[in-house]
Amino acid sequence: MLTLLGGSGFIGTAIRRELDVCGLPYQSISRAEVDYTNRSHFREYLRSVQPRFLINSAGFIGRPNVDACERARAECLFGNAVLPGLIREVCEELQLPWGHISSGCIYEGTKPDGSGFTEVDEPNFCFRSNRCSFYSGTKALGEEVLQGAERCFVWRLRIPFGAEDSERNYLSKLMRYERLLDARNSLSQLQEFAASCISGWQREIPFGIYNLTNPGSISTREVTEMMTASGGISKQFKFFSNDDEFYQQAATAPRSNCILDSSKATAAGIGMSPIREALEKTLRKWTGM
Ligand SMILES: NC(=O)c1ccc[n+]([C@@H]2O[C@H](COP(=O)([O-])OP(=O)(O)OC[C@H]3O[C@@H](n4cnc5c(N)ncnc54)[C@H](OP(=O)(O)O)[C@@H]3O)[C@@H](O)[C@H]2O)c1
Repeated sequence: MLTLLGGSGFIGTAIRRELDVCGLPYQSISRAEVDYTNRSHFREYLRSVQPRFLINSAGFIGRPNVDACERARAECLFGNAVLPGLIREVCEELQLPWGHISSGCIYEGTKPDGSGFTEVDEPNFCFRSNRCSFYSGTKALGEEVLQGAERCFVWRLRIPFGAEDSERNYLSKLMRYERLLDARNSLSQLQEFAASCISGWQREIPFGIYNLTNPGSISTREVTEMMTASGGISKQFKFFSNDDEFYQQAATAPRSNCILDSSKATAAGIGMSPIREALEKTLRKWTGM
């Protein structure tokens, strides 16, 4: 049996689906049922059910977007930086292997030679750099508290997209926003991401950090062109003329746009499909047309 934290959320739902596909029994617990933010309740729960593995997809993401994290700092800090530390301590005490969902948003841009950031590169969009959103700062701190953690996977997700229409799905966001910022990014196909997380545990690959993005990068404009080409979309996508206009009119906190190198995951046998291939496949099934 596995234990899943945050299974009620957007990413947790994708993890639950994948566990069902794999036929892996699990218990998805909500804070309302077992307060896993309380160390002793959490420890007692784990002692009683004795899971083989734990997945933490709980965290604070901000609604409708990361700007909300600027106004809910204590909750954001607790959910993204304190909670992973608490889970680490309890899992290490019980010698329980586990995986934590992190984010690629702790980086900005590319490396000086234009390549993507690897798992060993220091975050450059965090509280220790000159510029970051509060959300990104807390996600980077969440990774810091897991440095050297025993039996722990850190899975970095980046701009999730999937076939199901949802306010959290990147493709749905592109359809809903009036105007878009054109930026180049790495992205993660959500079901592929969930499959890579679980498969890594099942294949017993080494614990540690994994960038779980679809290899390659793509600009917002290129994604919208693929959406239009896939048929059924009449929307005329409009773009901000530059970053300044975007920040003046649509955003408070700085946004991270970045490229990640996912070759470690590929070499470990849990790589995802190339970005354009993943987008084409998802768009063929997309319910948001
Ligand atoms: N969505 C994205 O675009 C994205 C991208 C990269 C990384 N991530 C990471 O993936 C994880 C899950 O994100 P998500 O999009 O699934 O978020 P979500 O839909 O808001 O779900 C998160 C879940 O976490 C639990 N939780 C625990 N402490 C919380 C707190 N202080 N505030 C709010 N919820 C809390 C809640 O479950 P219960 O109350 O039922 O226990 C909630 O359902 C987060 O760590 C996030 O940083 C998300």
